[in-house]
Amino acid sequence: MNSTDFVWGTSTSAFQIEGGRYEGGKGESIWDRFADDGHMPESGDVACDHYHRWREDVALMADLGVTAYRFSTAWTRIIPDGLGEVNEAGLSFYSDLIDELIANGITPWLTLYHWDLPQVLQDRGGWENRDVVDAFVRYADVASRAFGDRVQNWITHNEPFVAAYLGYGHGVFAPGIADFGSALTVGHHLLLSHGRAARVIRSNVPNARVGISLDCTPSRPATNDPADIAASRMHDGFRNRWFFDPVFGKGYPDDIVEVIESRAVFGNDGLPFIQPKDLEDIAAPIDFLGINYYSSADVSVDDPQGRKSNRDPGPEQPAGFTEMGWCITPQALEDYLVHIAEEYEPASLVITENGASYSTSPDADGVVADQRRIDYIASHIDAVAAARRRGAPVDGYFVWSLLDNLEWDSGYGQRFGIVWVDHSTGERTPKESYRWYKARIAAGL
Ligand code: FCB
Repeated sequence: MNSTDFVWGTSTSAFQIEGGRYEGGKGESIWDRFADDGHMPESGDVACDHYHRWREDVALMADLGVTAYRFSTAWTRIIPDGLGEVNEAGLSFYSDLIDELIANGITPWLTLYHWDLPQVLQDRGGWENRDVVDAFVRYADVASRAFGDRVQNWITHNEPFVAAYLGYGHGVFAPGIADFGSALTVGHHLLLSHGRAARVIRSNVPNARVGISLDCTPSRPATNDPADIAASRMHDGFRNRWFFDPVFGKGYPDDIVEVIESRAVFGNDGLPFIQPKDLEDIAAPIDFLGINYYSSADVSVDDPQGRKSNRDPGPEQPAGFTEMGWCITPQALEDYLVHIAEEYEPASLVITENGASYSTSPDADGVVADQRRIDYIASHIDAVAAARRRGAPVDGYFVWSLLDNLEWDSGYGQRFGIVWVDHSTGERTPKESYRWYKARIAAGL
């Protein structure tokens, strides 16, 4: 792709910005329930009130000069109980948003699933229940029929690793289940639903461009010691290859399958959730791969999860870390993009999320001087440009996020926005990073 066609965007997700929990016939999602059960500092009942302020948010993006906006639709707005009636009010909310984007010259990039499963489906076992795959494919069918005349770019899932491992493996995200076997089962069903939905979207939308957003934590061996190199390979296998490989038709990585089987996670049953033809379905052709990138991990035998690369979250972080405690490693992004391009030969790569949390607040003049965020974003855009020079087909970059939003279990405590949101009034104030990004877009890649 010519650099003048490079896609510049911002990214958000429904639960994190919309609010309007009881409006327009919306059903309950697992995140609504998770908040009600006291697992979050704030609920998503209001969030950024985007449900009412969406025109203002589109106007902010138009002024910013982005050519694309990645948002997610809430399954619970479109099919409130996940299985039954389609909710026309939900469809028309997104339909109006899409029209407004297009009227402002902004191309919609629609993500179908950014983790907010209808609670009714969770009551039936959630993503552990294979029937949820069919429910998701129906939701994809409904949405792509409704919006396919105007939406060309479709992302089936956001970060299946996080949905599976944090939601069902560690229990820190909704629905709060902590079981390794569940996480593996869920991950498989998410991928299966991706592949099957991709085909349905393609059949409904003749010019569709379909992809999936995979998060990654590139693993680097802490030293050249062969034992550390092996530990890093293992980390990469669980964290990255387990999702990338099947999407690109390579099946699940043998070395990791072996470890799982040796741990007898499912007794002597191997990986019982895999049925004939599943891997073929998962490997449905995609038009682009979305990459969500924040940080990387240095891994050793003593630190097989690369935990030492990160710190506890908090506002007082030294240079080199964001307030999530994540280490800042743009070089790892550049190298990883080149690696992905060589390993999987995707037709197109798009950074569907990248950004940093800093709590820098408005000064006396109302200016949010978030230089550290500017430095973070600038260095990662430079990494993208460098990866392109090395041959990786990276065609777009979406900043996470347009707004300071509800950062899942961190609530409003972590701010990723290039626009400050006063959560007591909903008022929006563009930060210095917004002005910087505007100039960067205007300058071109
Ligand atoms: C990603 C999520 C996104 C946001 C960022 C900080 O894992 O996709 O919703 O929370 O992290």
